[in-house]
Amino acid sequence: MEKKVVLTGIKSTGRPHVGNYIGAIKPALQLAASNEYSPYYFIADYHSLTTVQNREQFKDYVYGIAASWLALGLDPEQSTFYRQTDVPEIMELSWILSCLTPKGLMNRAHAYKSAVEQNLQNSLDQDAGINIGVYSYPILMASDILLFQSDIVPVGKDQIQHVEIARDIATHFNHVFGETFSLPQYMVDTTTAMVPGLDGRKMSKSYHNTIPLFCEEKELEKLIKRIVTDSTPPQAPKDPDQSSLFLLYREFASENEVEQMRNNYRSGIGWGEVKKELFLVMKRYLEQPRQRYKELMSNSREIDKTLHYGAEKARQKAKPFLNEIKEKIGYSG
Ligand code: TRP
Repeated sequence: MEKKVVLTGIKSTGRPHVGNYIGAIKPALQLAASNEYSPYYFIADYHSLTTVQNREQFKDYVYGIAASWLALGLDPEQSTFYRQTDVPEIMELSWILSCLTPKGLMNRAHAYKSAVEQNLQNSLDQDAGINIGVYSYPILMASDILLFQSDIVPVGKDQIQHVEIARDIATHFNHVFGETFSLPQYMVDTTTAMVPGLDGRKMSKSYHNTIPLFCEEKELEKLIKRIVTDSTPPQAPKDPDQSSLFLLYREFASENEVEQMRNNYRSGIGWGEVKKELFLVMKRYLEQPRQRYKELMSNSREIDKTLHYGAEKARQKAKPFLNEIKEKIGYSG
């Protein structure tokens, strides 16, 4: 039986942080390593163009994301790893799909809706500062997903609606032109859905509370020291599952270490001590990937080569399927 397609896109809107790693990169790499799926992982650089409109920054983010995934162990043979802009078939399909998408569906997409709400709150025109890319963002995402007949789409909670929109668009197309697209399902990793940031809220670029994944060790140590804790005295027993430090620790430590740390929490351990231990396990875990990341970042040609290779593989599947789609709508070239 053919393996199920698992596909996810990573928007290149910043350098990856620890939250991206725990919430998205790590589970995706585990899925790929399980060998049960056919993984398609790509850099959604056209999506990032809705907000990143500076040439140097655009390039830096794309390479930064690609280098991170590769440094953390993504195998470009086992997965199809590509850059959205290298697969023009996605764009072509995006137009086709946009002609089958009711405008009202886009009005209801939450990213656009909340931008409108914010404008209204600030007494601005409802569409002030909103480009059409933001508005039709979910159609491009549907195209990413549907072009590869994706079965499973791992995403964060905030992207669930987008996967549902892709299903709606696919269903509509199938209805109009006959059975063509398989219907994708989203997958949300609930165990790691919430990675706490420095201030205890969800780690997110918009809260300015992130730990950059490949920052230097000194910086890492400094940031860990800044993670907020409460004023429970060192000897008081503590609940590990309510502690940001523990939630981070268990992602980077061995099973034994995690067990040991759980016991330490129960019998009482000072926050300073936990921070020291957290720094040690993170440092150990990230040392080699950081090295590899640096090498790749100083050799963007190598990154390009890998991404082009992935795009070739992706297009082998995309081209014939896009032709089939075009034939269904009446193209006969
Ligand atoms: N919109 C997603 C995000 O912001 C990124 C993305 C683009 C994506 N295309 C996708 C995710 C296709 C899954 C499938 O994170």
